[in-house]
This record gives sequence, C-alpha cells and structure tokens, in this order.
Amino acid sequence: MAQCPVITVDGPSGAGKGTISHLLSAALGWHFLDSGALYRVTGYACVLEGVSWDDHPAVTEIARRLDVTFTTCPSGEIRVAYQGVDVSRAIRTEQGGRGASTVAAIPSVREALLARQRQFRQPPGLVADGRDMGTAVFPDAPLKFFLTASAAERAERRYKQLIAKGESVSLPRLLADIQERDARDSSRAVSPLVPAEDAIVIDSTATPIPEVFERVMQAVRQQGY
Ligand code: DC
Repeated sequence: MAQCPVITVDGPSGAGKGTISHLLSAALGWHFLDSGALYRVTGYACVLEGVSWDDHPAVTEIARRLDVTFTTCPSGEIRVAYQGVDVSRAIRTEQGGRGASTVAAIPSVREALLARQRQFRQPPGLVADGRDMGTAVFPDAPLKFFLTASAAERAERRYKQLIAKGESVSLPRLLADIQERDARDSSRAVSPLVPAEDAIVIDSTATPIPEVFERVMQAVRQQGY
C-alpha cells in the first residue's frame, strides 16, 4: 500500500498533536495511528508481566508479541485494549507516560514496533500521530507537521486537564516531568524527537488549537486532499 497517503503529526506531548490529529482524521475520513499508545501499552504490559523497563531483551520480546487492538467507538473515541482488556485509561497516567518514554528509548523496541505501525497505512489514507512519524516510520509521507509549544505552556495545559478531572497535581512537578521526558525523547540515539527536514513547524504556545487546525487544513487543502 505504498501509494496510500499519510499525513504525519509529530511533536512533544502537550503540543496539541492528539487533538489536531483526531480532528484531521475525522475531517478527511482517514485512519488514525496513535503511535504513543503502542509505547504506552508496551510499558504497561511490562508492569503487568513483572518485567523491568531496563531489561531490554525482555521488553523487546513483549513489544514483538504485543496483543493490542484499537477500536473506534460510535462517538469517534478510540479504545485501546491489551489482551482483550480495555487499558485506555490505565495507559494515560503519569506513570504510563514515564514507562512509554523509557521503553521508547530502546532501539530494539522501536524496531519491533515499526512494521506494526506501517500496517496502519490503509486506503483512503492515514493520519499518524507521534514523535518520529515523519522522520523514521513514514519518511515518504507527502505532508508532515511538527507541532510544538513551550514546556511551561504544555505543563499549564496538562495541569488544567488534570484539575478538571478532579486530580490533585502540582504545576512545578508537572513542568519538571515534561522537561525530563522532553530531554529523554530528544536525546535518545534512535529516532530522537526532531522535526523532519520537510515538516511544517507550528508553534502553538500563543495560538489557540482551532487556529492551529485552520493552518493545518490550509496546507492539507493545498495538497488537494
Ligand atoms: O504521545 P504520547 O505522550 O502518548 O507518547 C508517550 C511516549 O512514547 C513519549 O514520551 C515518547 C514515546 N513515543 C515515541 O518515542 N515515539 C512515538 N512515535 C510516539 C511516542
């Protein structure tokens, strides 16, 4: 299916990637790949199976045989299941993010998940959300976006989300976590978090998401999609 179009949306967590990619796949009627969920499920499966995130061969084995399924609900929401059990919420915790970021730094884990990610490329098209969609997984994608925002702004957004959910969190702690995760994601040897050379970079620090989406859609329309 090499000719099937892919639009890649990369960037650090909290930059609005998830929202923009969901809106985009809904607007185009294309498939959606949440690649972060694959790393999150891998980290989560390690915890369930008593495997340390530092045990590279064992984590790689888990990634290779990862029994994960994505189901789109009538509401448009995507549910993630591991071994048939819904883990959509469980993988979205702060610990889930740390586990994902840790296992994602292991080159053999990235390799193990590569083919699985490429299988999402199905007609009529794919919107792929992640860190290395435009650089490593779909380098031939005809349209690539890289969304970014300052760490302070991303921490603030995450803080508001968690407070709205009734969770008690500390803003300085969130900011420190985001900075730590950015450093790990950007400095790893394989597929670090960097924009593809041909990516359209959008900084959303001072730009509301609807405006970011409008800019994305302009570029999409220019491509004739
Ligand atoms: O997008 P997310 O927050 O669900 O991603 C969780 C972690 O997974 C993130 O810290 C880095 C890693 N990740 C990655 O290395 N490559 C991807 N394509 C997607 C996520």
